[in-house]
Amino acid sequence: EKGTYPHYMLKEIDEQPLVIRKIIQSYQDGEGALEMDSDIVATMQEADRIYIIAAGTSYHAGLVGKQFIEKLTKIPVEVHISSEFGYNMPLLSEKPLFIFISQSGETADSRQVLVQVKEMGYKALTITNVSGSTLSREADYTLLLHAGPEIAVASTKAYTAQLAVLAILAEVTARGIGHEVDFDLVQELGIVASAMETLCDDKEEFESIAHEYLTVTRNAFFIGRGIDFYVGLEGALKLKEISYIQAEGFAGGELKHGTIALIEEGTPVIALATQEFVNLSIRGNVKEVAARGANPCIISMSGLETDEDRFVLPEVNSLLTPLISVIPMQLISYYAALHRNCDVDKPRNLAKSVTVE
Ligand code: M6R
Repeated sequence: EKGTYPHYMLKEIDEQPLVIRKIIQSYQDGEGALEMDSDIVATMQEADRIYIIAAGTSYHAGLVGKQFIEKLTKIPVEVHISSEFGYNMPLLSEKPLFIFISQSGETADSRQVLVQVKEMGYKALTITNVSGSTLSREADYTLLLHAGPEIAVASTKAYTAQLAVLAILAEVTARGIGHEVDFDLVQELGIVASAMETLCDDKEEFESIAHEYLTVTRNAFFIGRGIDFYVGLEGALKLKEISYIQAEGFAGGELKHGTIALIEEGTPVIALATQEFVNLSIRGNVKEVAARGANPCIISMSGLETDEDRFVLPEVNSLLTPLISVIPMQLISYYAALHRNCDVDKPRNLAKSVTVE
């Protein structure tokens, strides 16, 4: 039940710190170290390439998950949109492992791929919020998100839960292989949970950003580089899904190859700057769009901020920034939709689980 909350979406956004703590607990052994089913870890280690298959927000989580897995385990990862993979299968490696990411575990596009790869004799792991769901039953292994029921059509807590479980999977696999992980993931996820709380306590700030940038506009752009680009894609999906503002996420460096032509006087451009190694280049992109009349809203990470930034996120491990940088995206979208009198929890034309191909 949504209790005192006006919408499930807002409740589910607020639940994120708790969900992260629940995930940490659920994947800890008696001594507090992270652990997972040893068959899953062995299957990960045996794979010469991992194929992540997912749709929508879960696909965006997969893009970030690729970074976690590749950085920590050194196993190459490809991320594919389920509905494309079925008829456009890439050449597969010799020992592929398929990871299906699905909040509901019922997405037909993903299931169709699962059936195909099982027929081909490959192993599959499903990361889902719903135990006993179709994708969970039909895969060899399941990892649960422990996020509790997600009712709002716009996925929020499932996304951050997917990222946390992917990070744990990467860390446990890396340790199994013998790669050194130079941070304590339990501790870092704890810092993430606290940072999430701080952000959820700052709702007025995101409401005012939504009002300032998104009340009259017909479109909005989200830009970033690397993992910030992937969070921008998720921010754009959230905004278009519930507020019906046409929103797109772009890689900062790609703007000059076409997209910048769309910038007009006052176009809102939400820029994410959480990564030190691309901090200067994304800020260069902000200058380029501002010079063409855009209204930039820079959201940066503590330690990387400048005076021009609209919001500074609390500092977390640089690999884990998507878990917190997505929260402003969720809240800004929520308040923009509210302001436009949209049905936040049940946006038009959409269903919570998409069980048709
Ligand atoms: O249940 P799934 O994670 O498989 O769902 C995939 C997409 O349909 C879902 O993430 C959709 O994009 C959300 N409505 C986004 O908020």
